[in-house]
Amino acid sequence: MKILVLASGGDAPGMNRFMWEIYRKFKDNVYFAFAGFTGLVNGQIFPLSEVIDSSKKNSAGVVTKASRCPEFKQAKYFNMGLEYAKKFDAVIILGGNGSEKGAKRLFENGVNTIFVPGTIDNDVEDCHYSIGFSTAVKEAVYSVENTMPSIDAFLNACLFEVMGREDDSICKEVAKQVDADYQVVDEKTLDYEKMKNVILKKYIASSSAKIIVRENIANITEIASKLNEMLGMNIVKTQIVGRTQRGGSPTKQELSMATKFAKETIRCIKTKVFGVRVLADENLNIIVTEFK
Ligand code: F6P
Repeated sequence: MKILVLASGGDAPGMNRFMWEIYRKFKDNVYFAFAGFTGLVNGQIFPLSEVIDSSKKNSAGVVTKASRCPEFKQAKYFNMGLEYAKKFDAVIILGGNGSEKGAKRLFENGVNTIFVPGTIDNDVEDCHYSIGFSTAVKEAVYSVENTMPSIDAFLNACLFEVMGREDDSICKEVAKQVDADYQVVDEKTLDYEKMKNVILKKYIASSSAKIIVRENIANITEIASKLNEMLGMNIVKTQIVGRTQRGGSPTKQELSMATKFAKETIRCIKTKVFGVRVLADENLNIIVTEFK
């Protein structure tokens, strides 16, 4: 049996544990496409043993490398990738909601695909946990906790921009864990008057407001400038948490969830269940559903 695994879209902490578990089970039968769909299109396919060993199983990043590959949507490149994918008995695709579409299309064209959610964004439909999420949240929480003492020393306020692309999961979870004073999850909640009042209230009480802002809503520096203008004081600072959210060491929960996703994927391969998504339900139990 020949198995192919690839990480599509971005990397996510915990992906290496997933790779390790698949390798541990199927050893030299496992291959990877270098940098996801890009390597699949170009036929850059190598034994997984070349990049994985037990020393990598707890590390962030992804040993197979990852890449965005918008070209894969075009028939010409998709068909190139399809030819390589068809040579495998099972193709495992780790990624977010965009990658899921690629996995589904490969399945519709005769490839035995299994999709596994791997993205810090936690943006996969019907899925309550994707590999990378808890580490991304942990890193953002660290950033807030390590920044606020200094913000507070000056009685300033701080806007923290967290990743999540178009999804508010990270923003909401971080806001909950740090007990934020306000969260901007979408255009509607980008309410300057509310933010100004929250900041002022804290300032009057000799304290400092912490506000969590989801990326891709508005430029965070511009939000701060506008608030400073409204307040008539230069007290609103900004902190972009950024890629530390992807680069942080996987949490215990991450490693445990990645292992659970891998075990279920192995079960699907052994029982020849393909054209499926291996997901996590609201209790974080692993479930298997067909592509939508
Ligand atoms: O999809 C994961 C993610 O980290 C998003 O949260 C973010 O919008 C994007 O990738 C950033 O991508 P890059 O690091 O390539 O700029």
